[in-house]
Amino acid sequence: MGRQVHITEVVLRDANQSQIATRMPRSDFEDILETMDQAGYYSMEVWGGATFDSCLRYLDEDPWDRLRFIRSKVKNTKLQMLLRGQNILGYKHYSDDTVRAFVRKSVENGIDIIRIFDALNDPQNMATAIDECLKAGGHAQGSICYTVSPIHTFESYVELGKKLEKMGCNSICIKDMAGIMSPQVCYDLVSALKKEVNLPVYVHSHSTTGLGPMTLVKAVEAGADGIDTAISIFSGGTSHPATESLVYTLNEMGFDTGVNLKVCQKINDHFKPVQERFLKEGGLNPSVLTTKIDALNYQIPGGMLSNLISQLTSVNQLDKLDEVLLETPKVRKDMGYPPLVTPMSQMVGAQAVTNVLLGERYKSVSKEVKAYLLGEYGKAPGEVSEELMKIALGDQKPYEGRYDDLIEPEIPGAKAYLGDLAESEEDVLSYVAFPQQAEAFLKKRREKKALKVSYTIQEVE
Ligand code: CO
Repeated sequence: MGRQVHITEVVLRDANQSQIATRMPRSDFEDILETMDQAGYYSMEVWGGATFDSCLRYLDEDPWDRLRFIRSKVKNTKLQMLLRGQNILGYKHYSDDTVRAFVRKSVENGIDIIRIFDALNDPQNMATAIDECLKAGGHAQGSICYTVSPIHTFESYVELGKKLEKMGCNSICIKDMAGIMSPQVCYDLVSALKKEVNLPVYVHSHSTTGLGPMTLVKAVEAGADGIDTAISIFSGGTSHPATESLVYTLNEMGFDTGVNLKVCQKINDHFKPVQERFLKEGGLNPSVLTTKIDALNYQIPGGMLSNLISQLTSVNQLDKLDEVLLETPKVRKDMGYPPLVTPMSQMVGAQAVTNVLLGERYKSVSKEVKAYLLGEYGKAPGEVSEELMKIALGDQKPYEGRYDDLIEPEIPGAKAYLGDLAESEEDVLSYVAFPQQAEAFLKKRREKKALKVSYTIQEVE
């Protein structure tokens, strides 16, 4: 038997998020969970990322309930979630008490592995979540967001890997959210990390630019311990390399994935009609299924490019796209080369659009960029332009030390506000993370329950 390679099936989280905007309701997968548990996956990524927001906002589902349900059906396979460090699952920094409670409750409700990342690769932004995950008995997987810039060298990634090891992480993940990591770069990076860091290395990539499947094969050749894949019907394009193709390939190369392709067939058969329905009803845009090499040419993720196009289209100025594409790397450089992942991709993109539309660089600076420059998102990876600092902040000085220490605890206030609308600590956390969506959801839930009670009374009469 060859070397073991772990397979993480991501259909319920990242494939769901990348292809159908996280709109898959529980009814689409509840009947296949027990089969998925038999497939031999090392883990299943099922929660976190945008799933939480989407459950509350669009699906009228309690995200915590979804997790408990999955756990009740998946008894052998590890369950995994994605967490944006100090941002938990939202778009701003939360207080330490929120981060700790959220992480603890995630583990209590059934999560085994928490993949923790930060948009700036700032270890300080991952520290609280990692610490609490370990305390709660979870597996803390620290992430390195892969991006291309003059300051993101192999040395910087290895240094981050070493820091994550020191912080107690159980494994590390190279997170190539844009699918721009080439097979050779991946081979070299995994080799460097395996040499310098004494932790299992997992590789996460996307098929967006077409490099994904090759990149994952090279990752394994370089010694990666595991890779992320999606069941074939939900693979490809903005999603991930296909589980079955990778398992087939790795088996042939003599690696042991432990995944049973016959079971994969059943899983794929289950998801086929789901995919067809999304395709037919418009929830799945066929354009996300094709290979797009723009991200390689412009070095910006596909999702960000489509955002720029839609922003320019909405103001009838799509002819300015080329200018915006030239402006984007300049803004990114001025901001110290943040990786282009949420929320930084939106921040950099919107500022580039503003600069071009106003015909003058930084005539108007968004409040998000100002907050970033003040240090509310952590430490910029590289040097921030002094000129930008002066224009945006004037005499205001960036925070010294850790901004998160200044955030007041959020849970007590939320508890008091919700009163008996919150039936559990989980409800309170939903509200802290997404106040509007959670409050609407909790009110609706109460109405439904009231309705149920009155029906019961009628029946008794
Ligand atoms: Co991803």
